[in-house]
Amino acid sequence: MVIVFSCKEMNEKELLSRLKKTKKKLKNKNLISINNLSLKELNLVLDTAEIFREFIRTNSKKKLDLLEGKSVINLFFESSTRTRTSFELAAKILGADVVNISGEATTRKKKGESLVDVVRTLNAMHIDAVVIRDNHSGASDIVAREVGCAVINAGDGWHEHPSQALLDLLTIRGHKKFKNLKFTLVGDVLHSRVAGSLLRVLPRLGVKVTVCGPESFLPVKVEKFGVKKETNLEKSLNGADVIYALRVQTERAVRIGSSMNEYAKSYCITQEKLKLAKEDAIVMHAGPVIRERDLSTEVLDSPQCVVLEQVENGVAVRIALLYLLLAD
Ligand code: CP
Repeated sequence: MVIVFSCKEMNEKELLSRLKKTKKKLKNKNLISINNLSLKELNLVLDTAEIFREFIRTNSKKKLDLLEGKSVINLFFESSTRTRTSFELAAKILGADVVNISGEATTRKKKGESLVDVVRTLNAMHIDAVVIRDNHSGASDIVAREVGCAVINAGDGWHEHPSQALLDLLTIRGHKKFKNLKFTLVGDVLHSRVAGSLLRVLPRLGVKVTVCGPESFLPVKVEKFGVKKETNLEKSLNGADVIYALRVQTERAVRIGSSMNEYAKSYCITQEKLKLAKEDAIVMHAGPVIRERDLSTEVLDSPQCVVLEQVENGVAVRIALLYLLLAD
């Protein structure tokens, strides 16, 4: 799918006037879990993101001064394409100063400095926000206890990825109503932080969630999130409005009983399997997509697939988050 837009430019004056109408602060100064946001605040982030999305879609010069004089540190101890780039773009569009620190180059990885000491050091430089990705669940929470600035969890181990859930909600909202929506989450649910945030938020919005994958990929007692469990892909797709495929988290040394080929045969979303869902179902994936394992190329390239819309919404949501957390 290629995204092409042409519409009337939203100028800065109009942007500011629309922001003024929605402008409220978030109660929490950090975003560690999607549960840090009330339903009202979730809607505020999505509404604000829609305004910024229109601005960036319609302006060739995407530069504002709403966060002029603020500094944002992107501290990524794990690889990232989408999240790191969109947080950097978001901060720059808002006029903040951005410093990117990537895992291998840090004194934590090279010289053995602890995470707490790294972030205490950064905090002493009077920064305004840390966006952190780490392979340990709970890392962003530990950081938030150590620093006075805002902390945004950009993915912590298997735990959560709240800004991903927000961009996913914005994408779904563009196509469907949440109430009674049939949402099928397919793949490595157990090791996925994307699933961690989605399972915490979707039932709160009235979405009917089914998780599907081999038994070893489904968390024990996953039903406690208020979701259904299914190991048969065909059954789980029947009548679905949204199909969300998850990548097998091979970087977390995930093993599956059967081979990857067997897994793909049973759980890859192909055009044939997609026909079991509703005719107007959308297909989502947080990326990176592994073709022919998570989604077939045909499905990835089909008009039902909204993966690139998710990427676009990722920038808008992260602009909204930084603005709502940091703007004076
Ligand atoms: N969706 C996501 O978190 O992708 P990246 O790992 O590329 O940031």
